[in-house]
Amino acid sequence: MLLCLLFATGAHARAQAGAPVRFDASSQTFRIDAAGMTYVLGINEQKEVQALYWGKRLGAEDQVPAAKQMLPAVSFDLPVTTTPHEFVGWGGGLFVEPDLKITFPDGNRDLALRYVSNTIAGDTLHVVMKDVSREVYVTLEYKADAETGILRRSAEVENRTNAPFTIEQVQAATWNLPRGTDYRLRYLTGRWAAEWTVQERAVQPGKTVLESRRGTTGAQNSPWFAIDHARANDQEQGGVWFGALAWSGSWQITVEQDQMEQVRVSGGPNSFDFGYRVGKGETFKTPAFYGGYASDGIGGASRLMHRFEVDSLLPRAPNPALRPVLYNSWEATEFRVDEAGQMALAEKAASIGVERFVMDDGWFGQRKDDHAGLGDWYVNQEKFPHGLKPLIDKVHSLKMDFGLWVEPEMVNPDSDLYRKHPDWVLNFPGRPRTEARNQLVLNLARPDVRAYVYGFLDKLLMENEIAFLKWDYNRNWSEPGWPAVAQGDEKKVYVDFIRNLYSILAELRAKHPKVEIESCSGGGSRVDLGIMQLTDEVWPSDNTDAFDRLLIQNGFTYAYTPAVMMAWVTDSPTWVNQRALSLAYRFLSSMQGSLGIGANLNKWAPEDFATAKTMVAQYKTVRETVQRGSLYRLISPEHGSEHSVTETVSRDRAQAVVFAFLHSSREMYPYPRIHVEGLDAEARYAISAMDGKLANDTPAIASGAYWMSRGVDVMLRGDFQAAAFTLERR
Ligand code: GLA
Repeated sequence: MLLCLLFATGAHARAQAGAPVRFDASSQTFRIDAAGMTYVLGINEQKEVQALYWGKRLGAEDQVPAAKQMLPAVSFDLPVTTTPHEFVGWGGGLFVEPDLKITFPDGNRDLALRYVSNTIAGDTLHVVMKDVSREVYVTLEYKADAETGILRRSAEVENRTNAPFTIEQVQAATWNLPRGTDYRLRYLTGRWAAEWTVQERAVQPGKTVLESRRGTTGAQNSPWFAIDHARANDQEQGGVWFGALAWSGSWQITVEQDQMEQVRVSGGPNSFDFGYRVGKGETFKTPAFYGGYASDGIGGASRLMHRFEVDSLLPRAPNPALRPVLYNSWEATEFRVDEAGQMALAEKAASIGVERFVMDDGWFGQRKDDHAGLGDWYVNQEKFPHGLKPLIDKVHSLKMDFGLWVEPEMVNPDSDLYRKHPDWVLNFPGRPRTEARNQLVLNLARPDVRAYVYGFLDKLLMENEIAFLKWDYNRNWSEPGWPAVAQGDEKKVYVDFIRNLYSILAELRAKHPKVEIESCSGGGSRVDLGIMQLTDEVWPSDNTDAFDRLLIQNGFTYAYTPAVMMAWVTDSPTWVNQRALSLAYRFLSSMQGSLGIGANLNKWAPEDFATAKTMVAQYKTVRETVQRGSLYRLISPEHGSEHSVTETVSRDRAQAVVFAFLHSSREMYPYPRIHVEGLDAEARYAISAMDGKLANDTPAIASGAYWMSRGVDVMLRGDFQAAAFTLERR
């Protein structure tokens, strides 16, 4: 009997030691271990839930000191402010960013959350907290991804009081970094046609707020951050703490260094103009805030994000389909789409190996330009007298599948829909309705609008053999009023709109499981981990200038995977900069992501078709590596660099593909030697040029060590030159 008991206890202890989430009752500490990361939180003597450690994985037996309130040295601070919390209510003299601020109907606004209980199930921890006197409960959720160590955090607020209250600010999570003053923040900024610029700034006392107040994600900031030590000025070295919000509405990430040199990053829906009334017995669940730690530099942090997105986040994870090579009609025909014209383009696209033909804007309602038609989702009879079927049949006969552009959340005032339902748009009664691109935003939070949008999309997919929707969203909000609901509920629009968007996407996907969807917003204005959970790819930018794209794509990949990064080859000179670029250069730029063609094929010469055919065929031989592999930014195009080199290594390290670009050579200097990364040093790899020339003395075969240490010389001279080569394991 005794033996049995001992054995059982031993087995239990062993299971605990290997478990991703553990609770140590004696020290009141929770420890999460996943991949290269350890995260520790604990309950202090005041029963507050305190942050204890986030970083590189610790030894299995290591004990992080138990939680203990950090008492201020002076009367100007209060313990609630000086103690690093996992999730803190605004109350008791909190001066740093709160995780939750509530106004109760009696005017009380004080909230002091204390630990109540926890549950651990496999990789998931729930920690329940409650206000000291009121029946307000908050459940924190932590879910660890075993492969990458990325944690998903969120919070659920429950109203068990007898009356509604209003949440005025709520975070999904706050991440506490180790105390330090030498941190550097990386973040992404942009605008239309200039998305994804990587910014760096020192984390200093005070706050940096990254945000969108636009009702949608926006291109001006992306809901992503990465923080490392300023002294680690390297892509591949040093610890990096990073995170991203899964929310496509107005959002906010605040990076704060307080007066005790503590750095915390909190994120959730934007608190500006926020107000969500939670009725008695109701709950409010925040979106998720993902966070991770990499010990191999910002390059390593990006690779963890890419791996996580492909294997765990995308709708078809862990096996999302490789992106087909697509053709899109927008730059070729703009709104002038018709049956004969699209059929002619489809034939040409098929001849170069395109796998998906997408008809863009212009096919519906009275859509001749951007002044009319949005909202009227019936096929335009003049342009397509027999409906879409003849075109779709033609596309299928050419062995491609068919995709279609839609912009479901928008309406032109010049449309049947708006004439019938002028009250369906975001508006404040009696106030102007500000148009942008001649359109207004439908209030998707309304149940009738949600039903209409779902209904027309479902019908479109039922009646036509559509494999792909390009889902566009071409403006941001103004006058975000919702007059139809009770006073005090109007601001729910910021949340309920996005929840309905997500539920429409989820429902469509469930009913039409083969259909793929792209998130586009005039380029990259709606890219975030929330929309990526429900879409198969994204459009990073309307800017398709292949040189500008080097920088745009470079920034994009800090947070998001090339597996979803659509990149079209378009015409030269580019409409963006009037810059002339060779077709090969344009292809190589796009081949670093998910390849598409957006050029006007009617203007191509026979030699263009020949080049394109070769390039598309070559892309297909490296597509899996580019879309699934490990990306190394060997030479970043940032800071006005003359050079840009990316490398992707396949997961099994059997193939690497390198793309190299030169802006302009000077004074006869050779192109920098390329030192590849991530190969198996012992294995032998054969090199072969896909495009451009390698130095004459390049051996045909050498070890991984040789290619990484001795490196490769490519012969690039002139202006806007490009080359690419592969290394294949023998
Ligand atoms: C947006 C998209 C473009 C194109 C147009 C159509 O700008 O980003 O790719 O679809 O709308 O109006």
